[in-house]
Amino acid sequence: MALYRTYRPKTFDEVIGQEHITKTLENQIMNGHIGHAYLFTGTRGTGKTSIAKIFARAVNCLNPINGSPCGKCENCLKLQKDNDINIIEMDAASNNKVDDIREIREKVKFMPVDVKYKVYIIDEVHMLTDSAFNALLKTLEEPPKHVIFILATTEVHKLPQTILSRCVRFDFRLVSVKELVNHLRKIFELEKIGYDEESLKLIATAGEGSVRDTLSIADSIASYCQGKITKEETLRILGTTDYSLNIEFFNHLKNREIGGVLELIDRMEKEGKNLAVFAKDVSKHARNLLVIKTCENANEILNLPEDVFALFKEQADAFNEKDLINYMQVFSSAENELRYTLSVRLLLETTCLTAMSGMDAKKN
Ligand SMILES: Nc1ncnc2c1ncn2[C@@H]1O[C@H](COP(=O)(O)OP(=O)(O)OP(=O)(O)O)[C@@H](O)[C@H]1O
Ligand SMILES: [Mg+2]
Ligand SMILES: [Zn+2]
Repeated sequence: MALYRTYRPKTFDEVIGQEHITKTLENQIMNGHIGHAYLFTGTRGTGKTSIAKIFARAVNCLNPINGSPCGKCENCLKLQKDNDINIIEMDAASNNKVDDIREIREKVKFMPVDVKYKVYIIDEVHMLTDSAFNALLKTLEEPPKHVIFILATTEVHKLPQTILSRCVRFDFRLVSVKELVNHLRKIFELEKIGYDEESLKLIATAGEGSVRDTLSIADSIASYCQGKITKEETLRILGTTDYSLNIEFFNHLKNREIGGVLELIDRMEKEGKNLAVFAKDVSKHARNLLVIKTCENANEILNLPEDVFALFKEQADAFNEKDLINYMQVFSSAENELRYTLSVRLLLETTCLTAMSGMDAKKN
């Protein structure tokens, strides 16, 4: 079974990176101040559905523990089963018509079965048609006491103001690399998967703030690396170029070694590296060096392994800001074109020469 399914949080404590939300919901459970319409917004894979389900159990739990469901009482046991009739999940992407919502309006009248609350979780709610929104609004205006609505969306700007004003809104955060690293470490220990610290950081960074994406990446890497996940394998699977290649490349740029640049591109092509991915890495590397040059707490922003950070820092000192900004501009504007051109190599070479010719003349 996929890691992100195995490790779906069952209590608020097990959710990472969303303390501002879990604390509030725990308090509502403990004080009995429960709302009837909530809106969960935020990037995919950050815990919206997970928290909605924990909340649906917590409001019905007979002995909640610090606001979380106990997991043991008869209600918890009942609601832990998939498809219990008291927790109704609807995907608005495929049920976006006014009739779908009318059906909900008819059914909310019926009492929950054996528990206190029926909870409707409407995913991707921004996909509803205008008339469906209007129908939903009517229900949200006078919800029965025994019903709770949790609307979830990744695109909150597509919701009408009338809906927004009826809901208590929670904005889900992207989860930090640090929290993702700790989460991965815990899971790898439990699963007895070997790893090194640098791989943890690489995987967490590649997840870009989404816990689900991070765990899926971890899954695919774990299945390639039999026994132990290593930095080398991780880099290879993620398809990013090795740091040392970026360093070498930037040394050539710095010294204006056109021959060196062309040879390096030739080598990469022979090794079967994706040159478009390389161009992306180059603009990222320029950005990393710029952050190091200009920010006090650079590695809190970049989250690089210590030894890599030291190498980058050394290189950052050799460049001036203007050149780095120039590289970022030249390479990021070439990125898109590189993805579609038939002569990637020629375009990449041209881009490198453009970047070098735009270098700050003062240095000579
Ligand atoms: N904040 C989190 N803490 C711990 N695990 C999480 C968190 N967010 C997501 N996950 C992991 O990712 C999986 C999917 O999360 P979930 O379904 O809650 O995301 P979502 O925000 O609803 O995403 P989507 O927008 O795609 O519906 C969970 O089973 C869990 O393994
Ligand atoms: Mg979801
Ligand atoms: Zn319980």
